[in-house]
Amino acid sequence: MTVTPGPQINSPSPSNPLPQITAQPLPDTGSAAYRHAYSRINGVVVVGETLAHHHFRRLARAIPADGAELLRLGDMEGRHARELSTCAQNLGVKPDIRLAKQLFAPLHQLFRQCDERGDIPACLVIQCLIVECFAVAAYRSYLPVADGFARPITAAVLADETEHLDYGEVWLQQRFAAVQEAVAAICLQALPTTLGILRALVDDMRVIGMDPVELVASFGEGFQQSLETIGFGSAEAARLLRRAMAA
Ligand SMILES: [Fe+2]
Ligand SMILES: [Fe+2]
Repeated sequence: MTVTPGPQINSPSPSNPLPQITAQPLPDTGSAAYRHAYSRINGVVVVGETLAHHHFRRLARAIPADGAELLRLGDMEGRHARELSTCAQNLGVKPDIRLAKQLFAPLHQLFRQCDERGDIPACLVIQCLIVECFAVAAYRSYLPVADGFARPITAAVLADETEHLDYGEVWLQQRFAAVQEAVAAICLQALPTTLGILRALVDDMRVIGMDPVELVASFGEGFQQSLETIGFGSAEAARLLRRAMAA
């Protein structure tokens, strides 16, 4: 899955349908409601990126053959956390890190458990498929309503996330027969946990102009595509996604 950043944001094409950034009026970033919602959403973004940094460092230890590559991906996540936190600073908003840590705790805990029992496929599904597909869907949804400072930063981050998704897809695809069951099992566990984070932010997303229903639909589409890329048949991928989203 490839998304091109920067200049092409205004020129979506059928093969690369980035959202139109000029199609809707921008929300009032100075209102109290916007600032409150932005604080909660930016907190989740910054904590999500920071955890991604830690997860890739753990993956680098678990997969030494790809250690250098995984450390590089982890460094990108650390940079994302720093750059995206400047989007809140620019608005004079303090990210709600405490709330974000609470929301991410179950998913991070699940990743740690998988890592501790040496379940590399599960770790890759959590970080590289689920989290990255969510990041891609969320940043794509935010781009059309992002302020002028946040927009180029978000577009650049979005392009990086697809690279992280690709790493997980390739690794899992190369071992599909051996990991198929583990992938299905962790999807059923990790997807409801991830949707819980989203559910907590539904009202906040609406306040800053994002459409949470579209975001979930876009995530579902991207995630099903990833499942198919790694080897699931399309009916099988759709069934797994339905079961996991309803779990
Ligand atoms: Fe990231
Ligand atoms: Fe990422």
